[in-house]
Formats: sequence, structure tokens, C-alpha cells
Amino acid sequence: MDSRINILSGTDRPGSNAKKVAEYLKPLYQQKGTRAEVVSLEDFPMEEVAGGKYGQDLSGVKAFRERVLDADGLVMVIPEYNGSFPGILKVFIDYLPFPSAFQSLPIAFVGEAAGAFGALRAVEQMQLICAYRNALIYPERVFLQRIGNIFDPEKGIKDEMTSKLLASQIEGFSTFVRQHKSEGVSSGD
Ligand SMILES: Cc1cc2nc3c(=O)[nH]c(=O)nc-3n(C[C@H](O)[C@H](O)[C@H](O)COP(=O)(O)O)c2cc1C
Repeated sequence: MDSRINILSGTDRPGSNAKKVAEYLKPLYQQKGTRAEVVSLEDFPMEEVAGGKYGQDLSGVKAFRERVLDADGLVMVIPEYNGSFPGILKVFIDYLPFPSAFQSLPIAFVGEAAGAFGALRAVEQMQLICAYRNALIYPERVFLQRIGNIFDPEKGIKDEMTSKLLASQIEGFSTFVRQHKSEGVSSGD
């Protein structure tokens, strides 16, 4: 069964590694028969939420979240900022409809950081939030450690073990999303 994922670049930082990694992942998913689109938090309409617009009908926020959620699964590419994930990612989540948004949605995580732990802290903190929101968390996570050394947007992942882990995640998450879709469960059910 044909399935579709979105790959969310988890920061609005211009020229981010997260977006480069997300773009790198897209054809790898397509090679596994999974249609994939990249959505970047660069496009999140921050100006629309300035001043605190919780609970209001916000057309830009709604359009953005539909771009993220309109899929059978989601891959989050998360950089580490100050031992956590970027604040814009939490703002995005705080403007999702509660409780439905991540309900039964398969989500996989790729962390990337300058440091030696590859955004392990950031990913684990995000896993807690996604678990609270009843997402179906794919257990194989990938951490791109010392991103400046390990990743080249043209050549991909330079470290063999990390490359194998990423290939395994892509294969496994594609299957997970397809199986979940064939069971007839969709997010929001
Ligand atoms: C605001 C900020 C905070 C950061 N904090 C950390 C950190 O706590 N740990 C770490 O390993 N790297 C940290 N870094 C480095 C980033 O993880 C690294 O540059 C990463 O590739 C940035 O992701 P991006 O290019 O997707 O924005 C920080 C970078 C920024 C901009």
C-alpha cells in the first residue's frame, strides 16, 4: 500500500543542518516506496502567534499544521539547542489541536548536534511530549553526532555505522507506517 510521510525540519534557523538532513532523507524514503515531503519550521507563521493567540482560529498556523500532519507518518529531524530541542518546535506543538493532533500518528526521530551525543537529550525530551500526545513512537532513533564532521549534504553520512543505523530506520519506519496504514487507523481516530 502506498504511504506518505512528512519530514519536519525542527528549527527555523536559516541554513540549518536539520533542513539539509531532512532534504537528504527525502529521496531515501522515496527509494523505499514511501512518498515524502519536507516541511520546515522556517515557514511557521510566528508573527501570527505573537502575543499569545492560544485557542484562536489562526489561518496561517492551521495551513502550516496541515502541511505537517497530512500524512501517514512523521519524521522529526531535531537539533540540540541548550540541551533540548528548539523553542519553535515547542511553539508549533503548543498550537496543535488538543488532544487529537498526534493521536496514533507514527513518529520517528533523527537528532543532530555539534556535540558528541547527537541531540540525544533533545530527542528524548521530544519523545516524552509525543508519548503524552499518544503518538506511535518508532523505537529506532538515529543520532547524528558531531554533525559538521559526519554529514555532507551532497555525499550524505560519512560514518559507516551511523549510515547503517539510518538505513535501518528508514526501512523499518517505512514498513511500520505502511502496516499501520493498512490496519486502517489514521491520526485523529
Ligand atoms: C541556540 C543554539 C544552541 C545550541 N546548543 C547546543 C547544545 O546544547 N548541544 C550541542 O551539542 N550543540 C548545540 N548547538 C549546536 C547545534 O546543535 C548544531 O550547530 C546543530 O547542527 C544546529 O542545528 P541546525 O543547523 O539544524 O540549527 C547549539 C546551537 C544553537 C544555534
